Amino acid sequence: MVALISPDFAEFPPHPRLKIGVMASGSGSNFEAIAQSIQDGHLNAEIQVVIYNNPGAKVVDRANRFGVPSVLLNHREFASREDLDQAIVDTLKQHSVEWVIMAGWMRIVTPVLIEAFRDRILNIHPSLLPSFKGNRAVDQALQAGVQITGCTVHLVVPEVDSGKIIIQAAVPVIEGDTVEALQSRIHAQEHRIYPAAIAIAAIHSVTDDDRHQS
Ligand code: GRF
Repeated sequence: MVALISPDFAEFPPHPRLKIGVMASGSGSNFEAIAQSIQDGHLNAEIQVVIYNNPGAKVVDRANRFGVPSVLLNHREFASREDLDQAIVDTLKQHSVEWVIMAGWMRIVTPVLIEAFRDRILNIHPSLLPSFKGNRAVDQALQAGVQITGCTVHLVVPEVDSGKIIIQAAVPVIEGDTVEALQSRIHAQEHRIYPAAIAIAAIHSVTDDDRHQS
């Protein structure tokens, strides 16, 4: 995979129109950045469905504004993580999803989902992985006193925040930064790189598929 300082759709080779499904737990600003990128004619994709797990999540309003169907799968109503993930897989398949985009999905996913969409699930994490995996990554970066942090889009594998890195953006820590201030600058970079990461993953996957066939 490539690391790009400034992702530019104009330089990407074409790829087939992607059918994507988004998984989100809360605000959904990354969902909106992806939907906007599609509407603006940059990312060649269609969002088939948004799956959310928290009733009242703001992502639903954003999905409605973009005319994207949303489905609530409340994890509290499932006996196990695997049962929830099976319902997610069923919903994604019902909506003909090919690529799964985790955008602020705050649940650990299991092999039930990962195997069903092998190498076709992306996640965004608010740090420069492999630093600061897990929860409260922005807080962890501040506590560690690093001068540069950022965000990472990666493929999802069973180990949390550990899959192949697709794209990263660096964000400097400023003297006197708060978690909120730093988080909001990281968010701005997430919105910039996530649509590009989806295109890059798809382009590389086409190439990998070609290689496997030859
Ligand atoms: C982002 O900071 C992302 O890195 C993390 O969850 C947050 C989601 O934000 N995984 P939003 O819901 O897209 O606004």
